[in-house]
Amino acid sequence: MTKPMYLYPLWVRLWHLANALMCLALIITGLSLQYSSIEYTMIPFNYAISVHNISGIILCVGYVFFLFANRFTSNGHYYQFHLKGMLSRVLKQARYYSFGIFKHEQPPFPVKVGRKFNPLQKISYVFVMYIFMPFILISGIALFFPDLLPDKIFGIGGIHFIDLIHIISGFILSIFMVVHIYFCTIGKTPLSNFKSMVNGWH
Ligand code: HEM
Repeated sequence: MTKPMYLYPLWVRLWHLANALMCLALIITGLSLQYSSIEYTMIPFNYAISVHNISGIILCVGYVFFLFANRFTSNGHYYQFHLKGMLSRVLKQARYYSFGIFKHEQPPFPVKVGRKFNPLQKISYVFVMYIFMPFILISGIALFFPDLLPDKIFGIGGIHFIDLIHIISGFILSIFMVVHIYFCTIGKTPLSNFKSMVNGWH
């Protein structure tokens, strides 16, 4: 039995809660804006726009907070990785998730104070927080100022191009969320990771 470890400080939990709620609001209103028509609206258009815009602004503020907090606290160490040997570590973890876990093998990278994330978690969190979130947030901010966008980007309308990037990123974020929540259920018990995100202790 491993000793309890305090891995999720209060700021991580509060940021994560706000981030998850805003992403949910953005996905629901984003889907409504995407699929509504004049005859049929899932959520009234003006209401969906307002909620989408406000949640987007809160998400941006939260994101800047996350960047600073990760830069200036020890939580940032969990997001650093060495490229050397990364592929084999990721494959080892993927093999565990695909086979080992069903044979009750020990996890290849058990959680410890210096290692909160396994290699697959680390690579997906780094990708989502440092590559993917800037994409979706910057394209969202750009759509706030459509007059400033160039008329054409790569031969198609500027607004249309940025909108495409925003929508594709939105779908990828939705898929990430489903996969992320599924993997969070693969803890000691199906709810243990969720409990950790509430009380901070692993
Ligand atoms: C309802 C939606 C969500 C739920 C229930 C959820 C649940 C969780 C849980 C239980 C953990 C802790 C286990 C772990 O470290 O893997 C976690 C960590 C994390 N989640 Fe989520 N999540 C949600 C949405 C999101 C979204 C939308 C993002 C990013 C855009 C995100 C990014 C992260 C990150 C970066 C961590 C690690 C935080 C740290 O300790 O530094 N989550 N999530």
